[in-house]
Amino acid sequence: MTINYNEKIPNNVDLSSDRRLQRALENWQPKFLDWWEELGPNYSSEFDVYLRTAVSVEKQGWAHFDYVKMPEYRWGIFLTPSDPNRKIDFGMHKGEPVWQEVPGEYRSELRRLIVTQGDTEPASVEQQRHLGKTCPSLYDLRNLFQVNVEEGRHLWAMVYLLQAYFGRDGREEADSLLERHSGDQDKPRILGAFNENTSDWLSFFMFTYFTDRDGKFQLASLAESAFDPLSRSCRFMLTEEAHHMFVGESGVGRIVQRTCELMNEYNTFDVREYGGIDLHTLQKYLNFHFSVSTDLFGQEISTNAATYFNTGLKGRLNEARINDDHLLHDASYPVFQVSEEQIFINETPALNAINERLRDDYIADCDLGIRRWNKIIENSGHEFRFELPHRAFNRNIGHFSNIKVNPEGRIISQQEWEKRKFEWIPSESDQSFVQSLMKPVIEPGKIAGWIAPPKGRINRQSFEFDYVRFN
Ligand SMILES: [Fe+2]
Ligand SMILES: [Fe+2]
Repeated sequence: MTINYNEKIPNNVDLSSDRRLQRALENWQPKFLDWWEELGPNYSSEFDVYLRTAVSVEKQGWAHFDYVKMPEYRWGIFLTPSDPNRKIDFGMHKGEPVWQEVPGEYRSELRRLIVTQGDTEPASVEQQRHLGKTCPSLYDLRNLFQVNVEEGRHLWAMVYLLQAYFGRDGREEADSLLERHSGDQDKPRILGAFNENTSDWLSFFMFTYFTDRDGKFQLASLAESAFDPLSRSCRFMLTEEAHHMFVGESGVGRIVQRTCELMNEYNTFDVREYGGIDLHTLQKYLNFHFSVSTDLFGQEISTNAATYFNTGLKGRLNEARINDDHLLHDASYPVFQVSEEQIFINETPALNAINERLRDDYIADCDLGIRRWNKIIENSGHEFRFELPHRAFNRNIGHFSNIKVNPEGRIISQQEWEKRKFEWIPSESDQSFVQSLMKPVIEPGKIAGWIAPPKGRINRQSFEFDYVRFN
């Protein structure tokens, strides 16, 4: 495959024939590069990184591997090929052809959906920017950078939609995506989980497992959108998202593996003094990242979500495969609620419960990885098992934000929460312990003591491969 490196912005949207869009993107690109220089991966601009680049949407084209300096990464605009017969699958416009332009009456809702998704992409790059200097291996460093450049490309994907379909306010929103910053007091990112710190690699792996998985579910439901360019953008983004969750699942799995090895070698549960992360601490990180990611699905009962569904802007996961009328006027859905210190399940009009349904799909998907991690523990001969906390645990959005709940889902007093919370989520001392393990290992084939080497390969290259060359 030959790549046209002269092309400034690789794309399959026929950019060269759209002068207005080209000008808008060429105006935005230097701002993006400035942002990358300032808030992207720290001190990394000179590194040659063995990266996967999408050069086209064909099967052999979306995964081209080569050494690249990250600021020269070919951030491009790729949409899955269009299906001229695609029809709207749900809501009041069900059965009508999908839209190639933004309908005037849905303009502001669509823009808000795109901006909210777009805002998470650069946010995670900002959150992860210091991790490079404590990487456990070159292999992991390369995976981090791969995630970072792809989140950058996801930002491009959303900026393209804003600039191509929303005129002047779209261009302004595109600029704002570079002006809000993760954790910034005055201009924070839109969603809470994207203002948390990702200061160590355990948090990074948990983030890519739980928070990137939220991304997968949001993208999957936007991929159902009647606005075809949004649908096609999200479908292509999902191919990249799969790798991010692989990084998370295999990363945590390798930590669990190493912890179990140390437990067996020293015949103790408490592996901290041998440089491992004990299973209890891993469970606390899991509890924290699961709960903040669960918040990302929003209010359990949401009229906004009902509107998005009804008008065809945002569907359910695998909408076409769901066996119902896809209108939901008479349907109900079970939703967790709280009253008089009790958590109970209540049948609710399904249209209002779209968020909750997506959260249910998400929780079921999270559970699969937990089982695979537990298999590692089981195979090592230990009784301990990870568990997802109850969905009401440690929540800041929705019905559960006003109550305190233990990981099993029992309502507890504020007092008991204060007394016991660090049994369940990482305390400052847990965090500083984990932080103390974060020493860089950058020799090819070497790895830090708290994590096992990977079993898999990147593009058939072994673990010993020099995935990153420092210049
Ligand atoms: Fe993303
Ligand atoms: Fe991602």
